[in-house]
Amino acid sequence: MSLTIALPKGRLFEESIRLLKEKGILSKDIQEGRKLLVESDGFSFLLVKPSDVPVYVENGVADLGIAGYDVLLEREPNLYVLLDLGIGLCRIVVAGKEESKERYFKETYIKVATKYPNIAKKFFSERGVKSKIIYLSGSVELAPAIGLSDYILDIVQTGRTLRENKLVVIEEVATSTARLVCNKASYRNKRDRITGFFSKLM
Ligand code: PRP
Repeated sequence: MSLTIALPKGRLFEESIRLLKEKGILSKDIQEGRKLLVESDGFSFLLVKPSDVPVYVENGVADLGIAGYDVLLEREPNLYVLLDLGIGLCRIVVAGKEESKERYFKETYIKVATKYPNIAKKFFSERGVKSKIIYLSGSVELAPAIGLSDYILDIVQTGRTLRENKLVVIEEVATSTARLVCNKASYRNKRDRITGFFSKLM
């Protein structure tokens, strides 16, 4: 039985394919299109939403997956993290309007919009700041401009989205890169194939 691998669509997709080609796992490109199950080079690839990669792997429908550390931190899935792939570097930050920057460090109550409610809740509670977390699934950078929140907690890669929405980084929460993750049962039952895959990526 071939290995099934969950790949994140979007920002990490191209870098993932480039890496798999460089390491000789893929012989040709996989296009990110409407087709969500692609067979290539003896593997089955599932093309899924980045935040869902751990769901497929944890539930065993994918043996392996490429997941951002941001997603792993948010979901805390029950799986093995085998390798830091070094791709998809970005920062998880708190951002806000320039004029809120000074106030931020004195706040005892904070209103934050985010795609990462668990990271945000933990981050502020660890520093003893009360928080109201407003969960959004995208376009988070809009929230401070329209008064939905004072701050956002989100990932920043180029910084372009922040700039275009007149926001600045106020504090860094963590840096994130993509990780190779593995289903626990697959690791036991398909160990040779998984080790083979893994060692090509090292
Ligand atoms: C992420 C993130 C920011 C943006 C940052 O969203 O939520 O909005 O990218 O990137 P930048 O610093 O290079 O501008 P993504 O593009 O993954 O889309 P999403 O909002 O649909 O999740």
